[in-house]
Amino acid sequence: MDQPDNRRIAVTPTGAALGADVAGIDLAQPLDDAAFRAVEAAWHQHLVLRFRGQRLDDPGLLAFGRRFGELDSAPVHATRDADHDPYPEITVMSNIKVDGKPIGNLGHYEAEWHTDMSYNERCPIGSLLYSLEVPAEGGDTGFCNMYLALETLPAELKRAIVGKSCKHDASRNSAGELRRGFKEATDPRETPGAVHPIIRTHPDTRRNALFLGRRRDAYVMGLPLDESEDLLNRLWAHAAKHEFAWYQKWKVGDLIMWDNRCTMHRRDAFDPNARRLMHRTQIKGDKPFFDPASVAA
Ligand code: SIN
Repeated sequence: MDQPDNRRIAVTPTGAALGADVAGIDLAQPLDDAAFRAVEAAWHQHLVLRFRGQRLDDPGLLAFGRRFGELDSAPVHATRDADHDPYPEITVMSNIKVDGKPIGNLGHYEAEWHTDMSYNERCPIGSLLYSLEVPAEGGDTGFCNMYLALETLPAELKRAIVGKSCKHDASRNSAGELRRGFKEATDPRETPGAVHPIIRTHPDTRRNALFLGRRRDAYVMGLPLDESEDLLNRLWAHAAKHEFAWYQKWKVGDLIMWDNRCTMHRRDAFDPNARRLMHRTQIKGDKPFFDPASVAA
């Protein structure tokens, strides 16, 4: 029997606030337990991992994702023709149209900072995005470190969010498009979506992170609307600082996995005439919580 050889696995941090490259693993092959533990430890330490030069088909992407837990179905999309049969756990991100119909989500637009599917009661612990076609320029994906965002929050802002929860609007995607079956929101207090603590404890690392979801139509529960807007604006201005971020410039065959419990991500727009095709899957999680006994930020 082949012995696992984790000495071949090399983890190289990006040098930015988060992210690391993992080399020495072929994700199309089954991952033995020792290799899995090495990847998971690197993920908890660096929050976002990049595996370059992979050759994955959909079953291979799903098999790697399943090492981390049960997979979640793709979110409700804005477009009607974006379902990816026979793999409901795969979300297609693409601007490509076939016979005039989009094959995926988000088009070529900018996607604003967000956490995947945080408008659900139970939110994915992480997402895996694999690149099949990339534009020559644009379409970079940014990630930000929400542990660091919380740790560096000015004291008065930290005081203002202790014990508070936020509504995460479910009606729009990160490009601002209305999802199928949802109505235009007129008041953030009335939008559909789950309510989660603004300070969130990571169940594995026990560290606390700022948990914001999406800015548009968010609402801090119990506050007058103008106070909620002001508090959210200040939190978002802080979290979106460049010093907390790292940007991925895609190559075909890159797989990026990120931890939705302690990061947010966004995407740059790109030339609508260029082609970009990504397959994503997402790992099911539990209801976000705040543990007052956890590592203080
Ligand atoms: C996403 O928001 O999950 C997709 C990001 C991307 O297309 O780069």
